[in-house]
Amino acid sequence: MAKFHVIIPAAGSGSRMASVLPKQYLPLLGRPIISWTLDTFLLCERIAKVHLVLSAEDADWQAQNIQHPKLSILNCGGETRAATVLNALNILNVDVEDWVLVHDAARPGLTHALLDFLLDEIQDDQVGGLLAIPVADTLKRANNEQRVACTEPREGLWQAQTPQMFRYGILKEALTKSGGAPTDEAQAIEALGLRPKLVTGQLRNLKITFPQDLALAEAILAVDQQGVRK
Ligand code: CTP
Ligand code: MG
Repeated sequence: MAKFHVIIPAAGSGSRMASVLPKQYLPLLGRPIISWTLDTFLLCERIAKVHLVLSAEDADWQAQNIQHPKLSILNCGGETRAATVLNALNILNVDVEDWVLVHDAARPGLTHALLDFLLDEIQDDQVGGLLAIPVADTLKRANNEQRVACTEPREGLWQAQTPQMFRYGILKEALTKSGGAPTDEAQAIEALGLRPKLVTGQLRNLKITFPQDLALAEAILAVDQQGVRK
C-alpha cells in the first residue's frame, strides 16, 4: 500500500514577517510555531515519515530540541520554496507511488480532522490535490495608484492552502520540469496538464506571513486549548 510522507519546507527567510528569528521558530502560546506544525503530522498514525527541510545556514533548529522517531531533518533548502521541495524529493528514497504531502512550516493551525479529511479525499485520486478555501470576499483589481480599476468575478476562485498531496513520481517530474519557481506544488502539476482536486480547507489553517497573523493564530489555538476544538 502507498505510504504517506510529509515534506515541510522551512528554508525561507520570512522577509514579510520582518523578525530577527526565522518565523517558524517564533513562539506561539509558549511553543515555537514549527513544533505545532510538526505535531499534527507526527501524531497522525497514517503518516509514515516527516521530512523537515532547513537551509544549510539554519542556526536555530538545534536549540528547539525536538526529536521524534518519525522525524528526519534535511539541510538542503534551496533559493525558492519549489527548489527546497525538489531538493528534498531528490534525496528521498521512497516508492514512486507513495504520496507526498507538502505543508508550509508556518501553518500551525492544521487539525487532525482536516488532515484526515484530505487523506481520505485524495488517497484514491488519480492526480492528487490540495486544501483550499473558496474566495468569500468581493475581489477588486487595483490600478497603479491603488485605486479600484474594476471588480473581478469571484466565482470559481479558491485560495490555495497546504498540505498539497501528490504521488512522489509525478511531483518530482512536475517540479523538475517547472522552469520558473511555482509558488505551490499544484502549479507545477497543472503545468503537466493535470487537474489537482480542490479539497475544502478551513480559515484556521492560515499561513503566518505578516506580524499580525501571529496574534490571529494564537487566538485560534488558545480556543483549542480551552477544549472547544472540534
Ligand atoms: N520556503 C523554503 N525555501 C525557500 C522559501 C520558502 O523552504 N527558499 C518555505 C518557508 O520556510 C515556508 C514556506 O516555504 O515554510 C512558505 O513560504 P513563505 O510563507 O513565503 O515563507 P518565507 O519565504 O520564509 O517568507 P517571505 O516570503 O515573507 O520571505
Ligand atoms: Mg516566500
